[in-house]
This record gives sequence, structure tokens and C-alpha cells, in this order.
Amino acid sequence: MARIFSGIQPSGSLHIGNYLGAVKNWVELQHKYESFFCIVDYHAITVPYEPADLRARTADMALSLLAAGLDPSKCTLFVQSAVPEHTELAWIFNTITPLGELERQTQFKEKASREESVPAGILNYPVLQAADILLYRAELVPVGEDQVQHLELSREIARKWNARFDARTTTEKVQAKIEGGEPGFFPEPKALLTPTRRVMGLDGQAKMSKSLGNTIDLLEAPASIWEKLKPAMTDPARVRRTDPGTPEVCNIYHLHKAFSPPATVDHVAVQCRTAGWGCIDCKKVLHESMEKEIAPIRARAKEIAANPQKMKDDLAAGAAHASTEAQKTMREVKQKMGLT
Ligand code: TYM
Repeated sequence: MARIFSGIQPSGSLHIGNYLGAVKNWVELQHKYESFFCIVDYHAITVPYEPADLRARTADMALSLLAAGLDPSKCTLFVQSAVPEHTELAWIFNTITPLGELERQTQFKEKASREESVPAGILNYPVLQAADILLYRAELVPVGEDQVQHLELSREIARKWNARFDARTTTEKVQAKIEGGEPGFFPEPKALLTPTRRVMGLDGQAKMSKSLGNTIDLLEAPASIWEKLKPAMTDPARVRRTDPGTPEVCNIYHLHKAFSPPATVDHVAVQCRTAGWGCIDCKKVLHESMEKEIAPIRARAKEIAANPQKMKDDLAAGAAHASTEAQKTMREVKQKMGLT
């Protein structure tokens, strides 16, 4: 079974963008691959935060992920800081990563432009991300589109490390390739994207993101979701109810594609093009479709919250298994690098 790895920041509860872009896919993939899913708290401390708040957000994220359908008997779910090898390998990768590559990262440029004094952790963030993935020698990484550039860098780091330290002969590499394996010690991890790889925010202007305040949380109450959907941006051409629209330019239509059955999606498109429905009618139907998918998740969240010890135990078991695998990789890495 091939291995997959993915991570998510402990931002509290999942939003619809995280869910549709990544986590819903994880829930399916956990049955097909040997899966590692990580709540990346070391990444989260690259921006200012309150310790008590981080602890609560980490627990809330674990709860959201379990409620969304991650099953600890099928996948390894754990918190990054419980496995110190992540930062150990990140340091090693820092020594082979070109500074220019880090400065070129779009997310670095965005984040750095908002800070007066930029901590080195923001620059080195994608190096830790490469370490997360390669520590488990994962081949596939299910993520949303915004992580694709970071993954390209992970591949480059794998290539550079392999070229420098993996002493396999060319014949051994060719043989490994013939057998369907990776030619180097570290595989070059590939992104696994979904059709909903970039979910737009309720403002319709930018991707859905907690920092932009344009999100719907997965565990939000139905009435609160409706209050957010009502004013959400639609096709600007539909000024009056009688103005026909273009579904493809409307974010609400794209959310229908993610949540509504195909027959409803077709019907929505026709009603939009012919001005048969107003945007509020369309949003009501979307809200119903969302409820069908989200109500069971909300119910599961309540059950999980009622037994916090079970969640702690699941995370501890996940960390124990991840540690075993991480230590195996680090033993080989240190051996090959002359560190032991
Ligand atoms: P994070 O926590 O920002 O997001 C978690 C996952 O959700 C996806 N996502 C989206 N997908 C579609 N539309 C959106 N609006 C949207 N917003 C978020 C992200 O692409 C991601 O898959 N750096 C990563 C965390 C990380 C990681 C890793 C990921 C650390 N180490 C190793 C993969 C592998 C991040 O901040 O994701």
C-alpha cells in the first residue's frame, strides 16, 4: 500500500475550504492508502499566538477531523510536536535548501509583507513541511491548490538530499524504478488534488481562509450558516431578481457542485440562466444540501466531545505509531549523512 501524508494547522475548527479541498478526500483515502494525518502545531507558532489558545485550537481541530470521518483504526492521526523527529529532519533539510527558493514562495511573500519584523520560522516554514512528508517517505500528499508550490519545494529537497547522500548505484536506482519503487531514498512526493481544490470565500474575492474572515465552519450551527450564506457574493450581473446570470462565475453555484446531487446542480444552472430563481432561492437549496452532509458530522462531533479521554488516547496512539516510523527514517538518514 502506498503511503500518503498530509497536514493541517490547528486553527480551531475546520472550514468548508479545508474540508472540500483536503479533509473530505483524506476520509476516502484512508481506506486505500497507509495514511498519516498531522495537526501541525509547530507550523502554527510561526505567527503570534496565546499558549492556552493554541492548546484549545489543537484539541478542537482533532475533534473536527474525527467528526469529519477520520478513523484512528484506519489512519494515523497525531500532533506534530509529539514527534520531535519532524524538527530534527527540518534542520537537516535547512542545510541543503537554497535561500532563494524560500524567498520565492508565494505564501512567504504574502505573510512577510504583513509583518514588520519577519521571524525566520516563516521563511523556513516549507522546509518543515518537506520534513513532515519525507519523514514518512510518503509518495502522495492530498492537499488544496494553495499547497502545490510548497510541494514542488519538497520534491526539490528530496532530489537534492538523494543526490548528495543516497549512495545507491545507478543500477540499484534503475532496478528500483523497474520494480515500481522510487529511485532515491526519499520519494518525490506528488500532490493529490480534488475538483474542489480552491474553494472561494463568502466574499467571492479570495480563497476561503480563516485569516480573511470569509469562512463557514464545518461545525457551525445551521442558523449561523444561513446568516452567512444570505449576504454571500453571487454573480454581480444579477442585480434584480429578473436579471439572468452565469452560474460558472457564481461561487454559490460552485458550492452546489460540491454539496448538491448532480440533478440539483443542473437545475440550479438552468434557474440561474433563465432567472427562474432569485439568488436567495438558490442559496436556500444550497443550505439544505449542505445540511444533509454536515448534520451527521455535527452529531458525531457531539459524541466525540462527550468522551475527551478517548480522543486523547487516539492521538497518543497515533503519535506512538508515527514515532516508530519517524525513528526508522532518522536512523537511516543519520547513517547516510555520517551523523552516526
Ligand atoms: P492549512 O492548514 O492552511 O490547510 C489545510 C488543508 O486545507 C486546504 N485548504 C483549501 N483547499 C481548498 N480551498 C481553500 N479555500 C482551502 N483552504 C485550505 C489546504 O490546501 C490544505 O491541504 N502548510 C499547510 C499544512 C502542512 C502540510 C504539511 C500540508 C504542514 N505540513 C505537509 C501537507 C503536507 C497548511 O498551512 O495548510
